[in-house]
Amino acid sequence: MSWRASERLMETIAHYANFPATGVSLRQMVQFGERPSTGTYRPHITMGYLTPPGTLFRASQFLSEELPIRLAHRVQDLDNLPDGLNEMPSIRKVQEWYAQSFEELVTLPRPSLSSEVRERLMRPARRINGVDQRLLSQTTANPSVRKGQYQSAPEHTNGNGNGNGHEVGRRTAQTRRYYYPADDGQDWPPELNAYNKRFAESLEKIKRRHDGVVTTVAQGILEWKRKKQRMQIDNNIQAFLDRFYMSRIGIRMLIGQHIALLDQKQRPDPNYVGIICTKTNVRELAQEAIDNARFVCEDHYGLFDAPKVQLICQPNINFMYVPGHLSHMLFETLKNSLRAVVETHGQDMEEFPVTKVIVAEGREDITIKVSDEGGGIPRSSIPLVWTYMYTTVDQTPSLDPDFNQSDFKAPMAGFGYGLPISRLYARYFGGDLKLISMEGYGTDVYLHLNRLSSSSEPLQ
Ligand SMILES: Nc1ncnc2c1ncn2[C@@H]1O[C@H](COP(=O)(O)OP(=O)(O)OP(=O)(O)O)[C@@H](O)[C@H]1O
Ligand SMILES: [Mg+2]
Repeated sequence: MSWRASERLMETIAHYANFPATGVSLRQMVQFGERPSTGTYRPHITMGYLTPPGTLFRASQFLSEELPIRLAHRVQDLDNLPDGLNEMPSIRKVQEWYAQSFEELVTLPRPSLSSEVRERLMRPARRINGVDQRLLSQTTANPSVRKGQYQSAPEHTNGNGNGNGHEVGRRTAQTRRYYYPADDGQDWPPELNAYNKRFAESLEKIKRRHDGVVTTVAQGILEWKRKKQRMQIDNNIQAFLDRFYMSRIGIRMLIGQHIALLDQKQRPDPNYVGIICTKTNVRELAQEAIDNARFVCEDHYGLFDAPKVQLICQPNINFMYVPGHLSHMLFETLKNSLRAVVETHGQDMEEFPVTKVIVAEGREDITIKVSDEGGGIPRSSIPLVWTYMYTTVDQTPSLDPDFNQSDFKAPMAGFGYGLPISRLYARYFGGDLKLISMEGYGTDVYLHLNRLSSSSEPLQ
């Protein structure tokens, strides 16, 4: 291992961890990245649409404060894990990744800009698409989450406690207002563009470094279970994992969005703002998830034809969402249903009962019900299905350290991560995932997706 956190770095991290994360809503992310159709900024024709440099710079500034704060919380949280869990080699490794990424962000050289340029950067673009950009939408409380449920640390000084918290406090207070585009009417100095590029490159590197976090933390828990001869994780560790993975979803969302905005020409589709699709078509995504889950099921059980899935959905239901998140949740719930159906009725069954996927569109929510006849779950086990590493698969597939995947996509089942992680994705944008089962018959999973898209990331 070549990289080590210095003591000084750990002090800086502890300092940043005094500040709370700033939650952003889906709608704000979209408003920020929307292409200015009027106004004076004209991108170079051959480049396609790019987010204007001044606006991008503001986003970089916001992230260069916000990401270190979020990373710092994680480093500390990992450090404070109880009962020797913080000592496990895989947990240490993950902690080092977070510390290293933190360091890269806070030491990235900033451009020296004239006071004129700096002043212009603080000025908002007056009107984009006829809307005054200073009147940005407000975030609302996340309806599926108790206040503090996924909060990073039990107590916060809220950035205005002791004197030495001053500098970051002042700067974050300024950049908090970043979610409106800058005045991009004239050219910017080359230093600004160079910084944007440097910053994006560093984000890409960080994103890649953290690809294996979920599997490596899972590995760390296994190491600990083995060492301490534990069968189950307690509430403390469950709460830690919820926080940790929720935070990871947020960090990757912000990074992914920033990188995608920088390079909109990769996505000529006008419905995309970064990785958010303003017209996510539910039926298409659901059909794709069904096909994928059935394919994995056939592959896993050696079936010629996986149990059928009936999709009941109006063709044109669409809403603002991250298609990748929705695909993930649908795929996970469908795999669970197909597995339950096959294992309850036996692989040799001629005709399996059909699993239904029903999509309803309301004013507040789009709700997707996945309804199977896979025998259900005993009522006493329901709380367990939300526990990480709870699975009824006998042998957990191997989790060797080189298995460097961002999530457990490939196998049919066996890590016990499918449901808890899917619920985090749902809650991240103000939705929820619920499960109701009839033991002896089947299970209904309700995936609620919030259409209002104003709820804040559940980090406070
Ligand atoms: N539709 C369902 N019918 C019956 N049991 C279910 C259903 N969905 C989930 N379960 C039970 O809940 C457990 C946990 O599900 P979860 O998706 O979190 O993990 P998993 O499927 O075991 O592994 P993976 O992490 O690969 O998804 C399953 O092992 C299974 O026992
Ligand atoms: Mg599963």
